[in-house]
Amino acid sequence: MARAGAAIKNEIEDLREKLRHHEYRYYVADDPEISDAAYDRLMGKLKELEAAHPELITADSPTVRVGGAPREGFQTYQHARPMLSLDNAFSYDALREFDRRVRESSGREKIEYIAEHKFDGLSISLQYQGGALDRGVTRGDGRTGEDVTPNVKTIRSIPLRVDPAALKKAKLPPNFEVRGEIVMPKKAFAELNRQQELNGGKIFANPRNAAAGGVRVLDSSITASRRLEFFSYYLLVEGRSPFTKLSESLQALKEMRFRASADWKLCDGIEEVLKYCDSWEDKREKLLYEIDGVVVKVNSIPIQNELGYTAKAPRWAIAYKYPARQETTVVKDIQVNVGRTGTLTPVAFLEPVQVGGVTVSRSTLHNMDEIERLGVQIGDTVLVERAGEVIPHVLKVVKEAADRRPFRMPEKCPECGSTIHKAPDTVAYRCVNAACPAKRRESLLHFAGRHAMNIDGLGEKIVDQLIEQGLVRDVADLYSLKLDKLVALERFAEKSAQNLLDEIETSKKNSLARLIYALGISFVGERTGELLAGHFSSVEDLAAASQEQLEEVAEVGPKVAAAITEFFSEPANRQLIKKLHKAGVHPTMEKRQIKSDKFAAKSFVFTGGLANRSREDAAEIVKQHGGTVSGSVSKKTNYVVVGTDPGSKYDKAKSLGVPVLTEKEFEKLLNL
Ligand code: IVH
Repeated sequence: MARAGAAIKNEIEDLREKLRHHEYRYYVADDPEISDAAYDRLMGKLKELEAAHPELITADSPTVRVGGAPREGFQTYQHARPMLSLDNAFSYDALREFDRRVRESSGREKIEYIAEHKFDGLSISLQYQGGALDRGVTRGDGRTGEDVTPNVKTIRSIPLRVDPAALKKAKLPPNFEVRGEIVMPKKAFAELNRQQELNGGKIFANPRNAAAGGVRVLDSSITASRRLEFFSYYLLVEGRSPFTKLSESLQALKEMRFRASADWKLCDGIEEVLKYCDSWEDKREKLLYEIDGVVVKVNSIPIQNELGYTAKAPRWAIAYKYPARQETTVVKDIQVNVGRTGTLTPVAFLEPVQVGGVTVSRSTLHNMDEIERLGVQIGDTVLVERAGEVIPHVLKVVKEAADRRPFRMPEKCPECGSTIHKAPDTVAYRCVNAACPAKRRESLLHFAGRHAMNIDGLGEKIVDQLIEQGLVRDVADLYSLKLDKLVALERFAEKSAQNLLDEIETSKKNSLARLIYALGISFVGERTGELLAGHFSSVEDLAAASQEQLEEVAEVGPKVAAAITEFFSEPANRQLIKKLHKAGVHPTMEKRQIKSDKFAAKSFVFTGGLANRSREDAAEIVKQHGGTVSGSVSKKTNYVVVGTDPGSKYDKAKSLGVPVLTEKEFEKLLNL
């Protein structure tokens, strides 16, 4: 059913406007107005409309942020004006010296400076044409950089277009350049390394490396996954500053909805700059991103022009660097810590040392690969660094001890004695016993989570008390909790205790998908839980599945399948399933509405993107008509339904001579 073109166009533009507004509220203003889910719904709707009307897709649509397919290589691009670096000052005296030079060369008595954070990231030039983001280029060697446009488009604090009204207000033309820094927030960095630790990826030494690695990749979906942010600090029109003061540029950038640090300060003379540096030295720990110093710039553009440049850096700016938070110390021992997910993490126990005012006596070594990469052994002298609130990190071995001892992973879990597993294609060693005391707290919290068994009221404080009082040792124990025992806990009135028991009781009715997710099997998220629940009739059925059977489930690859078989190979986990069953937690596959037996004994495989429905919905339709759906093509497959960008399954179908259907043909078969 075709709707009027103009109406659709308006609807699409309207959605884009809304999304732009909410992106600004969330990523720039840090003050969201709607929930993530509501944002996702708007985005989903726009994607749907654009998929149905590809002729209406524009390069500045919020949907382009999603991250496309990898490209072949980077194009290089010559900067209109070189991206220079800055001279450094390592002391307040050096800053005063800089001020003296500026005053002498400019013949002024006192200079107005802008002091702002020195963001520890990757500098980038963003070029806007007609108000829309046209190109993003890395600094490169300062003269020529790499064109990373698709990647920067995934960074949500970078506007894809600037509102013409804002440009008009700031008296700016539609073609301009914004320079600034791409950074990775500390939290995203810690989370990235945690993931890398689990999956055996490379461990990043600091957020700057992780940010740079996230921008200089050919696959923009990697950039999108790194949760990078952009801070602007420089505005150019035809290679020059459009204002007579830098502070005006910073103000204009703000009006144009760029994120500029809210913390820049106009300083009257160098002594105010020193105060600024001083005040941020400690406060910077609390910032959500890393700064490694303060950049000091002359505010007046005419004075900047008088002072000019050396070959390498402007004479009107300098970077004051905070003292490095690095120190050398001795590794006294290396022991393992069993984390909340059961991963064994080697930890270096250090001779206590002061690093930037904090005593450091431990440092994570992440995993075996990292230990090998560093070549560290017990007894060695190492260089440790503390970057913001990020956990201290061993940078390198500076001296090998004569009596050094290599570290070896234990074969048994130091907490519960279960056998340690190592999945073949990861570097992580894991204790997979779901009831291991090291994991108890997190397992319980995960199990009770909103997206898992959704036991409202079972928060951290209560879980801690339940564990301390010995009332629960595993998730199944929740189902035998008694009112009198709960009421005896701190801050527990009879009513709230009864509410919790009711919540626990209700949770027995949860779906199989939720229970599978709630078990906390590595790599089994909500979505995988749903896919598995659509394939197996009960947890027992899932537990009995072989690696091959698991891999038949859509989106389940060897790694996920191995994690599942590993989980159920642990006797303690099989015991737990029995205990849950006995307690009344044994959901089975949801009854589906059977509409016909048209596809009885027919098996389907879907590959590529479908236009009118998701692959899951298509699979559900097949099942409602008595058919089966598999993740891989074999001679037994009856039909392969092919959407856009099909994968290797399409080639396999052709080579095996399995009938191939388009989505339209699939609909016809069904009389949809
Ligand atoms: S201004 C010509 N401001 O530090 C002036 N740079 O060490 C160019 N940086 O290449 C830069 N925060 O990548 C400026 N607030 C800030 C900055 C900043 C970080 C980076 C930038 C530059 C490097 C020089």
